[in-house]
Amino acid sequence: MDEPAQELVLHEVTRRFTGPDGTEFTVLDRISSTVAAAETVAIVGPSGSGKSTLLNLIGGLDTPTSGSIRLGADEVTALTGLELARFRASRVGFVFQEHHLLPQLSAVENVLLPSLALSEGRRDEEWARKLLGRLGLGGRLDAFPGQLSGGERQRVALARALVNGAKLLLCDEPTGNLDAETGAAVVTLLLDVAREESATVLMVTHNAAHARRFGRSLQLREGGLTGTPGVKDGEVRA
Ligand SMILES: Nc1ncnc2c1ncn2[C@@H]1O[C@H](COP(=O)(O)OP(=O)(O)O)[C@@H](O)[C@H]1O
Ligand SMILES: [Mg+2]
Repeated sequence: MDEPAQELVLHEVTRRFTGPDGTEFTVLDRISSTVAAAETVAIVGPSGSGKSTLLNLIGGLDTPTSGSIRLGADEVTALTGLELARFRASRVGFVFQEHHLLPQLSAVENVLLPSLALSEGRRDEEWARKLLGRLGLGGRLDAFPGQLSGGERQRVALARALVNGAKLLLCDEPTGNLDAETGAAVVTLLLDVAREESATVLMVTHNAAHARRFGRSLQLREGGLTGTPGVKDGEVRA
């Protein structure tokens, strides 16, 4: 059985980078926030404000300069090696602006790819087909990415993010390359499938209409995060 979604807690997360001229700059400055299990959150903010950096830290693709990130009982920022690899493979699902599907694999084969990374709990083809069916792609299971539209490719990418049973979906401008109508349809499917799977969603978007469809919006600006506080944000900040 899948694990249920879990609370995500960011505590004073700071990320600094070193620029080409050798000077340090702070992208995220002591960010604290709590996202409840199965909550849907839109992340908005100007280009370069650190939205992708934030998702990468939460998903264990990058490590904060200081501060901690916890998902349920696990301190993501303390995981290393195999534990971190397992976390990335099974606990989080990423959807990016680019679909990153392999062109030589069919839709269902692309969805199954992340399951190859896990020795235990591997999902079978039937589950991948079911997931694609739920995303309206039941008739395109064996199509190759080159035969699919942009919206269909993003739906395959969404199924791939879910195939290992992740209950935390990190979506970085997944509708950025889609026209308005297709983008809105992908957001609808994302929110529907997240509700069905009781998954938490964090989605970066520049589209205010999309952001309004989420449980709440957080704005990233000048290193800080503002927005409607989460259930326990008051506590975290106190
Ligand atoms: N690995 C890195 N090394 C150096 N600078 C980085 C790195 N990743 C991101 N940055 C810088 O951090 C800032 C925030 O980037 P990013 O998180 O991609 O912003 P956003 O997704 O909001 O557009 C930018 O100035 C970017 O150039
Ligand atoms: Mg970005």
